[in-house]
Amino acid sequence: MVIFSGIQPTGRKHLGNYLGAITQYVEGQDRADPAIYCIVDLHATGVAYDPAALPGFVLDTTAMLLAAGLDPERCILFRQSDVKEHAELCWMLSSVTPYGDLQRMHQFKDKSAREQQLVRTSLFLYPVLQAADILLYRTDEVPVGEDQRQHVELAREIARRFNSTYADVLVEPEVRVPPVGARIMDLQDPTAKMSTTYGTDAGLVYIDDEADAIRRKLKRAQTDSGSEVVRGPDKAGVSNLIEILAVARGAAPEDVEREFGGQGYGAFKQAVGEAVVALLAPVRERYLELRADEAALESTLAAGADRARAIATGVMADVREVMGVGPRV
Ligand code: TRP
Repeated sequence: MVIFSGIQPTGRKHLGNYLGAITQYVEGQDRADPAIYCIVDLHATGVAYDPAALPGFVLDTTAMLLAAGLDPERCILFRQSDVKEHAELCWMLSSVTPYGDLQRMHQFKDKSAREQQLVRTSLFLYPVLQAADILLYRTDEVPVGEDQRQHVELAREIARRFNSTYADVLVEPEVRVPPVGARIMDLQDPTAKMSTTYGTDAGLVYIDDEADAIRRKLKRAQTDSGSEVVRGPDKAGVSNLIEILAVARGAAPEDVEREFGGQGYGAFKQAVGEAVVALLAPVRERYLELRADEAALESTLAAGADRARAIATGVMADVREVMGVGPRV
């Protein structure tokens, strides 16, 4: 079984990324053959970005994934732009992607509305490139956070339409969203997803935050009126903290509610802070160590790209052949 997922090189990764996606990647290494993880620098060019900073962000993300437990012996970890077939397959798949489907993508609607100067065509094509990432490896399973479900559904439809239009050479992937922890919200605005792109520093816990910063951010997290530690529709802040504590401890949200039900917000928030510190401190330590050796990170990525390319070129040859692109074979 092939597992594939992609992660944005947005510099610092936060608790939402960690609980929603990265822990799933680590677990996937034991189930898949192979598990393939891709740092999607081409996707990063779909919104305004700093070209001088991007290569460093890729290394930040690489070090973060290794620190969180990815093992290059047990998975393929690589940079998207090192395997040119991603861009090539994106173009091929755009020939079976309805324009209207792309206009309906939530992420495109959100991000294009927020772009100040220029809505890039690459932002519009973002889901097609994502489909190319997935389909290039005949992926069976795609672990992602809840917000990426629509993109993976689209990749399934693209595979289906490609196979029925040309010939049956692509695999329709299954999406895998973790039941808890898939949607960690901003600590200051618990109606918005925790996100480096639009969040504020106080609303995000970074994986490499110092212990005291983590404690402070959780202490100041938005809670709601009322004083009970239970989940509920008008209790977005508390619900989010319950979810965070549950995943950090590997417990169920109900267990957290039972334990803290009779206590006020103060003790509860302190417990969440300590649990998050315990979870992230060892990751931070390994991260700082790994990030210092850029040559080693680059050589890990290069070795991963060689292995990814070995799979990608075979699939791409089939795609070109059934599409009649290139010389007759
Ligand atoms: N769009 C994904 C995100 O923002 C990243 C991504 C790119 C991805 N290609 C992928 C995820 C392929 C899964 C599979 O999180």
